[in-house]
Amino acid sequence: MGREFLTIFDDWAENYDDTVSGLDPEYSRVFAKYEEILEAVVHHTKGPVLEFGPGTGNLAKKIIAAGYEYIGIEPSKAMREKFRKKLPKVSLYDGDFLRYPVFSIPIQTIVSTYAFHHLTNEEKETAVKKFSKTLSDNGTIVFADTMFRSEKERLNEVARAKKQGYTTLAEDLEREYYPTITFLKQLFKRNNFTIEMHQMNDFVWLLVAEKKSE
Ligand SMILES: C[S@@+](CC[C@H](N)C(=O)[O-])C[C@H]1O[C@@H](n2cnc3c(N)ncnc32)[C@H](O)[C@@H]1O
Repeated sequence: MGREFLTIFDDWAENYDDTVSGLDPEYSRVFAKYEEILEAVVHHTKGPVLEFGPGTGNLAKKIIAAGYEYIGIEPSKAMREKFRKKLPKVSLYDGDFLRYPVFSIPIQTIVSTYAFHHLTNEEKETAVKKFSKTLSDNGTIVFADTMFRSEKERLNEVARAKKQGYTTLAEDLEREYYPTITFLKQLFKRNNFTIEMHQMNDFVWLLVAEKKSE
């Protein structure tokens, strides 16, 4: 599990960058301030950096431009091809949040945008335990993703999308594993991280979790 949505991304890869630039009205609120969100992730980054689900490489490009050593893990073949066109010489592996190589360099930051919600809550728990082992001492996790204050807030967005005729967005919000903020805070705290969250748009929050020293 964890890779169950890959056909969606294989199909989306070709016009994904149009969507994030706001051309798809169904997703314009989800990707509002997209560049600012990626820049906020870079702001909290220390190197070397491991990214999960880099898609077409938009965050990777900014991390590399900021001078950090970078490794990407992307399960969708079509997304990897798009990434390699943008960033031909950058380290990029097939893998996912739960299955990835062991690296010889110390990983100081794990980043991911718009991807962690593809794991069930149980898989998120397994992933965070593994991240803790992958990260060097005092390492940081910086995620930006859709999450909600409550289930009610998610259901309100589903209802709003259906009312607007945004069926793709409504199905997405019903199908994938969008967590609540409370769940994520507890998840990181019980795995020995301190955590801060900041709202970036109506859907996306920035999560910065620092690994406490043992
Ligand atoms: C909505 S796109 C986000 C792409 C990019 N991070 C961005 O912010 O534009 C989600 C990405 O997560 C990847 N993905 C899906 N399931 C995943 C998993 N289990 N582990 C890692 N990445 C996954 C998809 O292939 C896709 O590239």
